[in-house]
Amino acid sequence: MDSDLSLEFLRVVEQAAIACAHTMGQGDRHRSDQVAVEAMRREMDSVAIDGTIVIGEGERDEAPMLYIGEKVGLANARAGGGADRGFPQVDIAVDPLEGTNLCATGSPDAIAVLAASTRNGLLHAPDLYMEKLVVGPSSKDVVELDAPVADNLQAIARRLDRRVQDLVVIVLDRERHAQLIADIRATGARIRLISDGDLSAGIAAAVAGSGVHAVMGTGGAPEGVLAAAAMRCLNGEILARLVVSKPEHEERCHAMGIRDTRRVYRSTDLASGDSIIFAASGVTDGALMRGVRFFGDGIRTSSLVMQTRPHRVRFIDSIHVDSRPDVKVRF
Ligand code: FBP
Repeated sequence: MDSDLSLEFLRVVEQAAIACAHTMGQGDRHRSDQVAVEAMRREMDSVAIDGTIVIGEGERDEAPMLYIGEKVGLANARAGGGADRGFPQVDIAVDPLEGTNLCATGSPDAIAVLAASTRNGLLHAPDLYMEKLVVGPSSKDVVELDAPVADNLQAIARRLDRRVQDLVVIVLDRERHAQLIADIRATGARIRLISDGDLSAGIAAAVAGSGVHAVMGTGGAPEGVLAAAAMRCLNGEILARLVVSKPEHEERCHAMGIRDTRRVYRSTDLASGDSIIFAASGVTDGALMRGVRFFGDGIRTSSLVMQTRPHRVRFIDSIHVDSRPDVKVRF
């Protein structure tokens, strides 16, 4: 995959973020999601790829756009449906608005996000829950998904050269996490309970200085694959297992080619592609990216664009200036 594509994907997430940021705080999560999807879909067709959505808004019969299997990119837009030879074949996982409630309520950490890979480089995960443990580079070899919480936290603390009580663990504030939260509290570690957005939290856990040292608990599987793509770029780690509790879950896994439904995945399993690009743009203010700001003469966006080849992490502050001759740009 051409590394220049990362800047094209930047455009895609920026436009999705801008579209839904207009709806911030309006209390309508579906509308926020819908405008993000439409903007992402529109922008995607100007990217010079022959793309296939592998993680998207659902199956074709339930999602009109960015559905799993949908062809996107210039190759398909130009050829009117038939792929045009010469464009790179790229698999894409999208979450046009991660944290629909966060946007609808104007709360922190809503992002527009996608990951791209060479063909078959992203797990085609069904929209189930996934148990997850996300840590940064220094702790990636010392944690296990099934180890007691206290053991994992002690190992992380040792690697970070601090006390367990000095760690911050992010957990989705859900009833299903009552025991997990009790176990973390018993160690004395600090907890940040979040209402939504375990993907943003996972990215923060892999960036030193963010003040987040681990993310634990069960969230969406698609977000898990996106987190794995981010981990590949940040040298962090996600350990994860699908939550398969009903026969219909098994069937959905098998339909997507997953045989071993109890498997513990690492980032290189979930996002196995040689070449991975990850792009996210802040919708509301967050730990690593600011939200979209509208300033009358233009729009300012804050994004994170990363890739494995060449290995590069970029924090990008863009000003989208209105095309009038008198517009002023501020530092
Ligand atoms: P949406 O963007 O679809 O609203 O998902 C947000 C989210 O909080 C994810 O970050 C998380 O993985 C998942 O939902 C948790 O699911 P649930 O709300 O069912 O616990």
